[in-house]
Amino acid sequence: MRTKYCGQLRLSDLEKNVRLCGWIKKIRNLGNIIFVDMKDKEGIVQIVFDSKNSKTFYKSTFLKQESCIQILGIVKERKEKNKNFFLPTGEVEVVVEKLKIFNISKPFPLDFNHKNNEKIRLKYRYLDLRNEKLFNNLKIRNNISILIRNFMQKNNFLDIETPVLTRSTPEGANDYLIPSRIHKGKFYALPQSPQLFKQLLMISGFDKYYQIAKCFRDEDLRSDRQPEFTQIDIEMSFVTNKKIRQLIEKLIRRIWKKTINFNIKKFPILTYHQAINTYGSDKPDLRNPLKLTELSNIFKYDFSFFNLNNNKNYRVAGLHISNILKISLKKIKSYETFVKNYNIEKLHLIKILDISSKKNKFKSSIKAILSTKKIEKILKKTNFKNNDLMFIIGGKENIVNFALGKLREKIGKDFFLLNKNTWKPLWITDFPMFKKDDFGNFHSIHHPFTAPKKYNIKDLKKNPENILSNSYDLVINGYEIGGGSIRINTEEMQKTIFDILKISNQEQKKNFGFFLKALKYGTPPHGGIALGLDRITMLLTNSKSIRDVIAFPKSTSATCLVTKSPSKINNLELTELGIKKI
Ligand code: AMO
Repeated sequence: MRTKYCGQLRLSDLEKNVRLCGWIKKIRNLGNIIFVDMKDKEGIVQIVFDSKNSKTFYKSTFLKQESCIQILGIVKERKEKNKNFFLPTGEVEVVVEKLKIFNISKPFPLDFNHKNNEKIRLKYRYLDLRNEKLFNNLKIRNNISILIRNFMQKNNFLDIETPVLTRSTPEGANDYLIPSRIHKGKFYALPQSPQLFKQLLMISGFDKYYQIAKCFRDEDLRSDRQPEFTQIDIEMSFVTNKKIRQLIEKLIRRIWKKTINFNIKKFPILTYHQAINTYGSDKPDLRNPLKLTELSNIFKYDFSFFNLNNNKNYRVAGLHISNILKISLKKIKSYETFVKNYNIEKLHLIKILDISSKKNKFKSSIKAILSTKKIEKILKKTNFKNNDLMFIIGGKENIVNFALGKLREKIGKDFFLLNKNTWKPLWITDFPMFKKDDFGNFHSIHHPFTAPKKYNIKDLKKNPENILSNSYDLVINGYEIGGGSIRINTEEMQKTIFDILKISNQEQKKNFGFFLKALKYGTPPHGGIALGLDRITMLLTNSKSIRDVIAFPKSTSATCLVTKSPSKINNLELTELGIKKI
């Protein structure tokens, strides 16, 4: 149907007869000549309808934007003054001899020159994808996938598919359930990840597995979360935590180099505790230079001032802000309100007036508890200059960390501290195995198949909250890009972890019996990781949401506005599935 793509025409094609297929982007009717921007997957070229060719010209007057056509024409050089050097095809145009109209487009529900309503964009997603930016995002996504496949193949990994109709794979979200027609009253679960299958493949002896796998999680959505998303899922036998990280660093370096020609240099490592203490977050954006300052020791006798009644799990920490930022009073007030969202009643402040002065050194909202000795100690902690500020929060450790971490992020954004053209990855390691909820129950911080690190079995059983896991998350510019761990490879340890999680013997048998059994047949030491392909593509295409790198994403309320799913099903279908409406 065509001899060339519109976007490929160049001066080297002059005087060639070409047949092109594509869509109409713009029409400029000058009376006896009509210029049309015609587009296909490779780009835009200008085509010209001249009234001298009366039959074709007449036909072209019926054209509408976004209609689909085929033309036969001759490539001509544009007059020097009409050349458009911003367009790859801008030195040429095609003078049309014949026109075939495949499909005249109805008036478009979207206007690419303006901001369109998100709902309309998602409803007409197939049309929104004609938009250059979205179209390119999917091309880049394709290139990244190919790059990954080549890399994995070169490193001797086997691409193995795992089931989509399966049992629950606990990753911390709710499952999507699929009723079985054959086994009425029974349900499959869509995998939250291929975790258990990839471990089973290690037991089978595959040694190096990968898969670009669809995962499904019913959880609250955010700009970097979709209910169905794609993981680059990896598992290896006989490996160490370090070996896996090295492989991923090589892969990430390659993706960044090949996609945006950026050389990633270092992948620093911080333990979970270091990250939380220094940045108030386990996914800090290292482009932001602000750090938390530890002040707990200085204020160790001031609990009552900070409304604390014991010294367990408390923290006082500060955020030093250089005078260079020139934070206004209005901004300070807005930050006082901001931290209230994170359960902080009072954001305290110290302002250094004259560092060399004895009397007029500082002013502060906590002057009442600031002796000269204390202020000197604080000044020693960071490199204060005159007019610098420090925000201070005291309270329960986790609340202080979270609030100061959020304040750090907010100030970073407000004062443009994040360089858009740089990339700062880091590894977060040594997460605690468990977190304890308000009822004293333990939950896995990664998943329950993660191996503990340097433990003694008595301690693990007695004080599970003190045990660290052999785990690692990859963070880039404040986004969690991947997470993984070394796995448990004995039935005994796996059962111990299930016991700590208060999964009864009966439930262990019912939900994980197959896996516990498999662990008994010579399970090798193994470990792995999964990277979020959507998040990687979002970063590399400079997109604000992973929706912009997924062809048909779900809305913020987890619906597909194109197909209107999820949808109701009729009573007959329900009966066939053995489901009763209540
Ligand atoms: P985890 O749950 O950390 O680990 O997921 C791995 C990576 O997948 C991406 N991700 C998501 N992306 C978009 N939408 C979501 N809802 C979503 N949830 C997760 C993130 C995340 O870092 N089985 C383990 C991996 C392992 O241990 O090997 C797992 O799934 O980028």
